[in-house]
Formats: sequence, structure tokens, C-alpha cells
Amino acid sequence: MSKILITSALPYVNGVPHLGHMVGCLLPSDVYARYMRMMGNEVLYICGTDEHGTPSEVGAAKEGMEIGEYCTKYHNRHKEAYKAFNLSFDFFGRTSSPQNQEITYHIFEQLDKNGYIEEKSIKQIYSIDDGRFLPDRYVTGTCPHCGYDKARGDQCENCTKVLDPTELINPRSTISGSTNLEVRETKHLFLKLPLLEEKLAQWVKSKEPFWPDIAYSIAQKWLKEGLQERCITRDLKWGFPVNKPGFEDKVFYVWFDAPIGYIGITKQWADENPQSRNWKDWWLDAKDVRYVEFMGKDNVPFHSISFPATLLGTKENWTLVDYLKGMSYLTYEGGKFSKSEKRGIFAEDAVKEYPADYWRYWLMSNAPESSDSSFSFELFAAVINKDLNGVLGNFVSRVLKMTASKIASEVPSGGTPDKAEIELVNTLQEKVDNYLKYMNELEFRKALNELRAIWVDGNNYISTTEPWSVIKTDVNRASCILRTCINLIRIYALLSAPIMPETSEKIMQKLGLTLSGASLKDFNVHKEIEALKPGHAFEVGEMLFERITPEKVEELKTKYGSNK
Ligand code: MF3
Ligand code: ZN
Repeated sequence: MSKILITSALPYVNGVPHLGHMVGCLLPSDVYARYMRMMGNEVLYICGTDEHGTPSEVGAAKEGMEIGEYCTKYHNRHKEAYKAFNLSFDFFGRTSSPQNQEITYHIFEQLDKNGYIEEKSIKQIYSIDDGRFLPDRYVTGTCPHCGYDKARGDQCENCTKVLDPTELINPRSTISGSTNLEVRETKHLFLKLPLLEEKLAQWVKSKEPFWPDIAYSIAQKWLKEGLQERCITRDLKWGFPVNKPGFEDKVFYVWFDAPIGYIGITKQWADENPQSRNWKDWWLDAKDVRYVEFMGKDNVPFHSISFPATLLGTKENWTLVDYLKGMSYLTYEGGKFSKSEKRGIFAEDAVKEYPADYWRYWLMSNAPESSDSSFSFELFAAVINKDLNGVLGNFVSRVLKMTASKIASEVPSGGTPDKAEIELVNTLQEKVDNYLKYMNELEFRKALNELRAIWVDGNNYISTTEPWSVIKTDVNRASCILRTCINLIRIYALLSAPIMPETSEKIMQKLGLTLSGASLKDFNVHKEIEALKPGHAFEVGEMLFERITPEKVEELKTKYGSNK
């Protein structure tokens, strides 16, 4: 048994998550956490809302709310949406928590003590019409690197380069749109990344065999360009006040305390039950912890460079990322999800239309792993109708109905496995091994392809063995086939559980079983195919899935802005 620490990038608290957010890190991390638990590991799965920074200020101002209240409101909305999607966090916390403040202060003090913090006067954009400094996203303009005209002051979404607001061409205030801006000088604190470059480069290099290409190449690209000092303070009211004399009126930059939030949130978790939980077991001088992080690819530089450098600079023994899964983007009907244009489907609405497992399955089978992928309601309906209804759902109901009506509502007795069964078990074992291997390697699309092939094998088996006609002449043989099929159903429930936990539980219930305590460790099909013995009762129950009609597709497209 190993200890596996899993984090999903902390979603910005402002706004609500859409399908792109779900598949960009939240859902894959959940699938992985569930899988790792079923493999018998001790898993700690942490997430929470990223609450500081300009977006929260802007959002709260728009809604006329006090910022703290605004964050609480949206924190709860995130939490509800993720619960509806069955994300199995051990804790869903907040970066604004006192625990995170404590750890952020500690880390800053270490960095300062070790000489990695520098004071500098910088030029910042001041908006005369707004009467305030405009850090980060408060400024919009044209990217000096790629020419994208809606680049934000902190990072260009298009080319992923990190920016300083003063670099933008034709800058304007994000708040008011005003171009009546001037540059003023203020004093700020910088993290001296160049001093940490060598140590960091060595560490990144050591990760080459383990990190996926996308993460490793982004980190290398950054190192090649040479690290710059990064300003870690801001002229804002909302955030942790800087714990250094002379800087009390500034706060830490959101990207400084947000990743530290993984640790702060772990402490929130531990503080709920201090007798049995210790955050340091996972983070500081921790032994045998494997740390796996999930994020969108725009997040990779922060997680492969700035955050590890921050931790290395403390000269303390923090847990650093072992595997970094960076996902590409999901587009919506060929374009971007856009809240303001009401294009896209949000997590909380999605689960009102169809159960979470429909979305979980579709999103994981189409996860934007090696390149972007695209959502459309046609594609969604096609996959649900074919894989879930046509293959899995159909197999389960056909087998149980046939057995109940032709024999009894229990696993039939009689007959012994023949050539067809031996062949089935052998090919399944191969596919199951592949499936588990891909899950281990976090190759989700490949894993789902195997899973689908495993379901298809069941359908092929029953079509070639034809128990419905065999039963007319050889009841024992038909019993053996149906017994095999009912055991396959159980196997499907176990294998599908990380991806479709509710469906798997429903299937297990039909078989008078439960998922709790179920294991995928050393999964042996030869053994599992005989787990349910003759006489074991089952219930046919309801169909697992509902077909999505073309009319419904049209309705959804209109409702969610893709018929525009
Ligand atoms: N809120 C950021 C985003 O959505 C991610 C922050 S991840 C963290 O892009 F670890 F830094 F919190
Ligand atoms: Zn750019």
C-alpha cells in the first residue's frame, strides 16, 4: 500500500464551473483517486476554491457584495456542483482559510530568511478613471508575443506566456474599459527565481522519465527562456496582508498563496480531526508519498516552476510533485465556452439534464489529453446511445431479463465452462490488464477504449453462444452461459466504478451487492468470473440508461446556446 496525494488545480471561486473545467482537471483527478483507492492505496484527494486576486474583487463588485460573503456564496456553489458530479474529495477547502494564511506566512518567512526575496520599486498601471492600480487581469490588451487582442495582464490565454501588465499593447481597464491610464511607481516584493534556477533545473531534469511530454516540455521551455524575478505582492485589499514591515498595506499575489492552498487545505482537513490526521504526514518531511497533480495546460508553468521553486527556496523538505497531468482544452460546439454569451453547459445544469455518470463517461472518453477535444450535443447523444445504452445497458438488462424469465431470478446452476468461456476469460484478462495499466499511467482515453472493448466482448459472447436458443435443447449449457454473463455484469460494475460510480453501485445493487470495499487489485478474471455462485439472487430492476432522442438534442442545443 502506498500513500498517494492527489490534487486538482483549485478553481477560481468567481463564476461557476462548466464542462471544460470538469474535464480539465476535476473529473480526471476524481477518476484517478477512485481508481487508486480501489487498488488498495491510502489516498488523500484535495481540492478547493482559489479565492484571492482580482477576479473575486471584480465579481463581488459586480454583484454588490462584500468580498468574503461573495466567496462563501460561490465556494458553496462549487461544492454543490462537484458533489452532484460525485467528486470524491477527502476535503474541499478554501485558499482564504486561516490555515492557508499560516502556511503562506511560514513559507514566505523562510524564503525571506534564505535571501530569496527582494524589494524593488516597479512601475504599475494606474487607472485615473477607476481611481486605483490595475494589477493582472484588471488590464486587458494585445499580447506582445502573439498579438492576441484579449490578453490579460498576468498571462496570455492564447500563447500561455506569462505577462506583466505594462507589457500589453493598447492597454485598457478591465473594470471600466477606460484607456485613461498612467504608469506609477510603487514598492513590491519579488521572488528571486534566477537564484533558484539551477536547483530547479536539476529537479525538473530528474522528472523527465516520469512526467508526461506536455508537462515536461512546457517546464523545459520556461527554463530555456531563463527565469525572471516574479512579483509576489499586489496593491489590493483582498488577500493575505504581507507579513513584512513596510508592506502591510499590500497583499500576496494570488498565484503565491493559491498553490500553497493545497497544503493549507490539507491542514483544514487535518484540523477537523487532529487525533487521527496530520497534514505534515503528507507535506513536510513526509515519507513515501507519491504526489500527483492535475491541471489545465495553462497551469503547468506555475506548478512545474513557480510553486516547486517556492518550496525549494524554503530549504525545508516539502513534498514536490511526482507526476503532473496537464490537460488540453475542451471546446463547445467548435467554439469557446462563454458565460457572458450564454454558450456552454455548466456543471450544475448538466446534472439536471442527465445523471452525472452520463457526463462523466462522455467527458472521460473524450478527455482532451494529447490535444483539444470538442463537445457537441450530437456527439454526446451518439456516445451515450451507443456505448452506455447499446452496449453496457443492453447487456445488463438482456442477461438479467433472459435469466429471470427463462430460468429464475438467481444465478443458474449446471454446466461447466467450455472453450468459449476459456477464450472469453483469456481475452478479457488481457484487456483488463491493459485497462489497469492505462489507468496507472493516467492515459484515460486509452483506458476507456479498453473498458468499452471489455463491454463489447460480453455482447459478442452472448451473440455467438446464443443462450436463448441453446436453452431449448441444453439447459445446462444455457445455464453456464448465463452464469458467465451475470458474473461479467459484476466485473463490469467493478471495472467501471472509478468512472461511473453511481451506475456501478446500481448494478451491484441489482446483484444484491455493494461497491463498498470492492477492489481492483490483482484483478483476476479467472477468479472473478466465478465469484457469483449458483443460487445467488438478483433483481432485474430498471434500465440503467435512457436513450437521447434527436428531438432532445435539438432542445438541448437551443437551451444551451449552440444553435446560435
Ligand atoms: N485558479 C487557477 C486556475 O483556475 C488554478 C490555481 S491552482 C493552484 O487557473 F494550485 F494554484 F491553486
Ligand atoms: Zn500571446
